Amino acid sequence: MDASDKPKVVLGVGGGIAAYKACELLRRLTESGHSVRVVPTASALHFVGEATWSGLSGNPVSTEVWDAVHEVPHVRIGQGADLVVVAPATADLLAKAAHGLADDLLTNTLLTARCPVVFAPAMHTEMWEHPATQENVATLRRRGALVIEPAVGRLTGVDTGKGRLPDPAEIFEVCRGVLARGAEVARGSEGAGGSGAARGSGAVRGSGVAGGLGAARGDLAGRHVVVSAGGTREPLDPVRFLGNRSSGKQGYALARTAVARGARVTLIAANSALPDPAGADVVRVGTALELREAVLGAAVDADAVVMAAAVADFRPVQYAQGKIKKKDGEEPAPINLTRNPDILAEISASRARPGQIIVGFAAETDDVLANGRAKLARKGCDLLVVNEVGERRTFGSEQNEAVVLAADGTETSVPYGPKEALADTVWSLVAPRLA
Ligand SMILES: Cc1cc2nc3c(=O)[nH]c(=O)nc-3n(C[C@H](O)[C@H](O)[C@H](O)COP(=O)(O)O)c2cc1C
Repeated sequence: MDASDKPKVVLGVGGGIAAYKACELLRRLTESGHSVRVVPTASALHFVGEATWSGLSGNPVSTEVWDAVHEVPHVRIGQGADLVVVAPATADLLAKAAHGLADDLLTNTLLTARCPVVFAPAMHTEMWEHPATQENVATLRRRGALVIEPAVGRLTGVDTGKGRLPDPAEIFEVCRGVLARGAEVARGSEGAGGSGAARGSGAVRGSGVAGGLGAARGDLAGRHVVVSAGGTREPLDPVRFLGNRSSGKQGYALARTAVARGARVTLIAANSALPDPAGADVVRVGTALELREAVLGAAVDADAVVMAAAVADFRPVQYAQGKIKKKDGEEPAPINLTRNPDILAEISASRARPGQIIVGFAAETDDVLANGRAKLARKGCDLLVVNEVGERRTFGSEQNEAVVLAADGTETSVPYGPKEALADTVWSLVAPRLA
């Protein structure tokens, strides 16, 4: 691909301790075919030097509006971008962006960009929770920027709390999602006689209706969505459990794509080893009963609940306090099972909010569509994603194929492809159904 055809990403880097993590984000962006211009602040260069940004991006690096003035960089860099991502975004940068200050190259770029803008804040919990920062974040979100929630974990020094920069690989996934979504929106508006702001793959640049800050805002902005993922484990004794093959990848893809579309996301994760999606609040659970409690709690103010987790239908009646031993000459004792609550049917029957959209998943091995239709009617949910599963199908795979059945009788087929594509189709069906 010619350099001029590559989607153009501006990576703004603020003066936070997490600046070193932006090097990995930069690497992922360049290696996946993006042309990246790094615009650090002067403070950021205290943490990672100009040579690193320039060497890794292959582009010149400046913090000032006074370098290469003949190229008018304070305007051109922002105007030419398909995506601006600021990682880490310091409290200071969020404040400047919210108030429209323009005293260096990055803040000028933020004012001239008409493409989607993503901020990945990182700072101490006190700075993040301060009303000034929260108001600045609200202002930026209202204007259409995507501000992803910081992660919880180790901060600078010995403290722990909310304010950590999410995993760079996960920020990269958000960027990819926003670029892909922007291109989709742009294609839609071109078809509808829009201004044709798109250029090449992933391009949403320009002042057309499809581009602009709103393209990052996404159709789930201001919404709270709950996604369950993974597979529950029903313990038999301290070392054994009844489980299933779900890896959590489909649920995590749903969480990731919902963040990229602007939603506040609660991910209820059952026994998944996957890294936390950037911007999602992750609640970890083990058993079906724990998952039920977490889903009911999070669903109270949710606009949509997507039940992608594989929840055990049954659990052992008895839990042995000590490891069950084999005894010479004796057959093993039978395992008696009891039913777990049907969470999907329960939340569909008594919705926590009027108009709440409930999406279920049906993993079937035979008579896939007929069983799916029967399950949709039985459970009373709005949408049911039906896929065929087997030992080497779907579980743990990066790909999926499904039919989404709707309570209004419509069916949407999603061809074999990345789990992100199925996740995006689900949200495209959920978004217009939200009150
Ligand atoms: C060691 C150290 C770590 C810092 N880490 C952060 C941080 O993670 N987040 C933040 O908002 N500010 C952090 N600061 C404060 C910022 O560097 C300071 O507010 C600076 O003015 C930010 O400038 P900038 O937004 O132009 O990059 C840190 C400062 C120091 C000395």
